[in-house]
Amino acid sequence: LKLMGCDVASFGDYEAPPERAVPLIFDDTFGGVYKKLLFSLDGTKLLGGILVGDASEYGTFSILAKGTQPLPCQPHELLVGKTGGSALGGVDAMPDEAQICSCNNVSKGAICHAIREGNLDSVGAVKSCTRAGTGCGGCMPLVTDLFNAELKKAGKVVVNHLCEHFPLSRTELFAVVKVKELKSFDAVIEHCGQGNGCEICKPAVASILASLWNEVIVGDEHATLQDTNDRFLANMQRGGLYSVVPRVAGGEITPDKLIVLGDVAKKYGLYTKITGGQRFESGHAYGKALRTVKSCVGTTWCRYGVQDSVGFAVRVENRYKGVRAPHKVKMAVSGCVRECAEAQGKDVGLVATEKGYNLYVCGNGGAKPRHADLLVGDIDEETAIKYIDRFFMYYIMTADRLTRTSVWCDKLEGGIGHIRDVVVNDKLGIAAELEAMMQRLVDTYECEWAAVVKDPEKRKRFSQFVNTDETESCIEIVPERGQARPEFWPNEVVSLEQFRMLDGRTLGEHEAEETAAMSDSIEWVPVGKTWDFPKDGGATIKYGKVQIAVFNFSSRGEWYATQNMCPHKKAFVLGRGILGDAAGTPKVACPLHKKTFSLKTGESLQGEEYHIRTFSVRVDGDDVLLKLPSTELLDGELATEIGCQLATSCQTSCSSAAAQPRELLEV
Ligand code: SF4
Ligand code: FES
Repeated sequence: LKLMGCDVASFGDYEAPPERAVPLIFDDTFGGVYKKLLFSLDGTKLLGGILVGDASEYGTFSILAKGTQPLPCQPHELLVGKTGGSALGGVDAMPDEAQICSCNNVSKGAICHAIREGNLDSVGAVKSCTRAGTGCGGCMPLVTDLFNAELKKAGKVVVNHLCEHFPLSRTELFAVVKVKELKSFDAVIEHCGQGNGCEICKPAVASILASLWNEVIVGDEHATLQDTNDRFLANMQRGGLYSVVPRVAGGEITPDKLIVLGDVAKKYGLYTKITGGQRFESGHAYGKALRTVKSCVGTTWCRYGVQDSVGFAVRVENRYKGVRAPHKVKMAVSGCVRECAEAQGKDVGLVATEKGYNLYVCGNGGAKPRHADLLVGDIDEETAIKYIDRFFMYYIMTADRLTRTSVWCDKLEGGIGHIRDVVVNDKLGIAAELEAMMQRLVDTYECEWAAVVKDPEKRKRFSQFVNTDETESCIEIVPERGQARPEFWPNEVVSLEQFRMLDGRTLGEHEAEETAAMSDSIEWVPVGKTWDFPKDGGATIKYGKVQIAVFNFSSRGEWYATQNMCPHKKAFVLGRGILGDAAGTPKVACPLHKKTFSLKTGESLQGEEYHIRTFSVRVDGDDVLLKLPSTELLDGELATEIGCQLATSCQTSCSSAAAQPRELLEV
């Protein structure tokens, strides 16, 4: 429930009378949070409750209220927590009947039984066997915890290796890269990995290198390691388009600068939107890095403000902008305890007091909201910066990949107490080192957008094709509310049926070559120079009406070419995918949803029906040539318009599309 911006929830027997229930009430007038929990008379069972202002524990509480097991903690610990860890004692303390996956109604007991009896050896196997986590995916952290707990009980070693290429966790890899002062992916994989890397380890290593050495991420050695967002400094959207978010520190902007933004948007006919928070801020909206430092107006304008929250937010944002981390990091500064910037829902939150600031850490919004923990109270700005340096760098050094600070804190032995010991009390004696590491990142910051704008060679990478200056739209654009947006994608079922339909009409590689050979139309076609294609990366060429992705897999000394269209959503993006190998098979990962395809055969490496067309490549001196049938023959199979029209024909039912394939394909 959400009433006028306020979270409200009730669960279980929230009206249980005094003869059966004893209430415990938490009433935070300042924070606008009220929680009433009703317990059995002996305090061993949660019966129901009401949550106002913070309903983040609704899922856990309702599971407890539904179960028949006694509480795994003292009643008051459900409201105020236990020092140094979760009051609920993790997944082990949950009853067997606790519902873990609400999308598919799978209980803890069913998952544990399947792991034990089915001898399941991966989280993926648990998902396939029980269907837990195959809906919205919100329960995956719990499913993973259960899997790890069961493995541990069975005496099996729980490994946290990054992927098949590195027998190390991210934390271990970070330490090795730091100690050995490794500066490139090649050096890292040579020192402690194997194979050619993949879409999991390449961005993770790129992030570690950036967090330690801070070389510009679009440099030649690093660019193709990045996920597409970091490679092109923008957020990939539907149809392979990108959104760009200008950095506006603290959300403060002059009218003249606003006019410049408006002029650019007008010139290029861009869809424009203020951020989700209805503000001008952000910057590295595409990176696993500092995103925003949200602020209220504080003493600049507000009659309640006790500190200059905007000024401090601008300082904090300019200090940490561009710092790469295991996941995105959000911060906020509120000018008084009314907390209009919602700082306690951020990774780092500062709430102004008469004496300075209260520093909160490890808060989160999104799918798994978590209220931040107070790290330390009433500190001045210098002390706050010092503690944020230490906190942020300790997180970068020790968190797993794609782990937000909230999850990191909950999994860390000792939780917030341990973080306080490291950051405030310097119990590990590493505070000075953490500060020095962060200062180095601050001192070596280089604007990556400027690095591209100033370098013509880097700018070339932003061209759609390497062999022509032409551009073409790859998704239908439709008007909405006075602006343009890409047409909706078809759903999964329609998407697969469209692929089958298209596949049924596509000639296999040899069939196409034979047909072309018969008509004398197959030939080696020059498509560019070797330097047009980045090392260990791809670029796209246009041939007739067809887009082809060409890959320079330099670490294997091999070249590959495939259709550029990913068959999943008919998006023209494969040339921007990350190269790697799966058990030695060279592959490309689609940048949109990470489906992977063999570069040798075009088959899906996830065992899916989707596959892609491949072409032979030859390098003659500096020239790159592809063995291709005539443009007429290939246009009939793979012209951009075919995919473009299919990609957005979700309104058309698939059966009607399948019934008229020829019309659809005659474009
Ligand atoms: S948090 Fe305080 S200072 Fe900031 S806008 Fe709200 S009331 Fe004003
Ligand atoms: S479009 Fe979804 S994986 Fe490529």
